[in-house]
Amino acid sequence: MSTIRLAGETDFDGWRRMARRYAAAGVVPDALIWCVDEDDLFAGEAAPPPPKTGELTVPAAFLPLARTAILHKEPARFALLYTLLWRLREEKGLLDVSVDPLVARIEGMAKSVRRDIHKMHAFVRFREHPDERGIHYVSWFEPEHHIVEAAAPFFQRRFAAMRWSILTPEQSAHWNGIDLTIGPGVPKPPAEVDDAEDLWRTYYASIFNPARLKVSAMRSEMPRKYWKNLPEAPLIAPLIREAASRSAQMVDAGPQQPNARPQSQEHLMSRADAGEMLPGLAALAREAARCRSCPLWKPATQTVFGEGPEDAELVLVGEQPGDREDLAGRPFVGPAGEVLDRALAEAGIDRTRAYVTNAVKHFKFTPRGKKRLHQKPDAGEIEACRFWLSGELEVVRPRLVVALGATALQSLAGKALPIGKNRGRIMAIGDLNVLATVHPSYLLRLPDADAREREYGRFVDDLRLAVRSA
Ligand code: URA
Repeated sequence: MSTIRLAGETDFDGWRRMARRYAAAGVVPDALIWCVDEDDLFAGEAAPPPPKTGELTVPAAFLPLARTAILHKEPARFALLYTLLWRLREEKGLLDVSVDPLVARIEGMAKSVRRDIHKMHAFVRFREHPDERGIHYVSWFEPEHHIVEAAAPFFQRRFAAMRWSILTPEQSAHWNGIDLTIGPGVPKPPAEVDDAEDLWRTYYASIFNPARLKVSAMRSEMPRKYWKNLPEAPLIAPLIREAASRSAQMVDAGPQQPNARPQSQEHLMSRADAGEMLPGLAALAREAARCRSCPLWKPATQTVFGEGPEDAELVLVGEQPGDREDLAGRPFVGPAGEVLDRALAEAGIDRTRAYVTNAVKHFKFTPRGKKRLHQKPDAGEIEACRFWLSGELEVVRPRLVVALGATALQSLAGKALPIGKNRGRIMAIGDLNVLATVHPSYLLRLPDADAREREYGRFVDDLRLAVRSA
């Protein structure tokens, strides 16, 4: 029996190095004890690892799965992952067998970790703490799993201009405007109600739309255990109680004149109120509605943000909103959306369970008489909008992203890649699994009916591969 000591609860690199060595040397899972250095439980000398032998090859999907599942609180996770790695040596297609008990268990662990990260992104609330250097924003959160390091970069990007700390019982993350550091956990600081929280409550009460109340959706997305740390939580029950009478007053007051041109921010906020999007994405959408990072915002009607469940396993990324999407404020509702919907249905994908978005969030067009003709976004515009797409992916953390066309692929990869060469296979881009395929408008543009039918069939096949792999 050999004991392997890892440097910490989230020491994926250490686990990976050791697991590769032991598996390549043919050491069976039962002959290993995995533990973390601070555990006294298995005190005793760690055995020297076996000498490095031949390389081990595993399917590309194993690494992102293992990297996520290792953050689970389950103490046996290192051993479970080693057993999976061990079996993958012989059973190459094992990861596709979702009914295999070990695969199902590890997939379930990864899902629970992704959900925990998503909840942390959505439910962290910063309180202002003035200090000698200005305002330090501090938050307290209690994650279920070992996710602080994995969740922290999201806050670094979102709150780059603030100094902040997120404290949790196990670890804390600190951002000083330059460096992100991970430190030890801390006991819960005393709850302080300050002006910032009062502002939060006023804001929450003002955006709460009684006519769109969905109590069950709110409950499922905002589980009780998070309430105690949310400044808006005390408001929820009274607002729900008053919702019926407030809605009746709104009906009595009659319709208001709609804006000739919708105010993008209000529009997005009301979608958030309707429970269509969850707080993490809703906050991101509110920020995106004010984006001025490239000139496309000016002639466009509004920012068209993504839509769909925040825990979707599949994300579909298009190029940019078209004419119809620009007016409706929703992605893929025009002719390309019709083709996409039909193909999704044929591939057995329920669109409402996927998150659908675009690489660029504003419609780029040239006015031609009464028409607005689509123009391809350039590299600078794609780059300026990457911030929003990565924010969405950070919150949703899907199992697979489908890049619909070259612009989507360019945004995901950070550089132009040809669709033809990369189509129909799953690529690892950073920690994302990406499947590239054509854009549905390409199918609409094909002049020859036979070619259209053939290409449409290939498109549906790509989507079928997506659903099998997500
Ligand atoms: N084309 C896209 O890429 N996205 C849309 O939302 C609509 C058309």
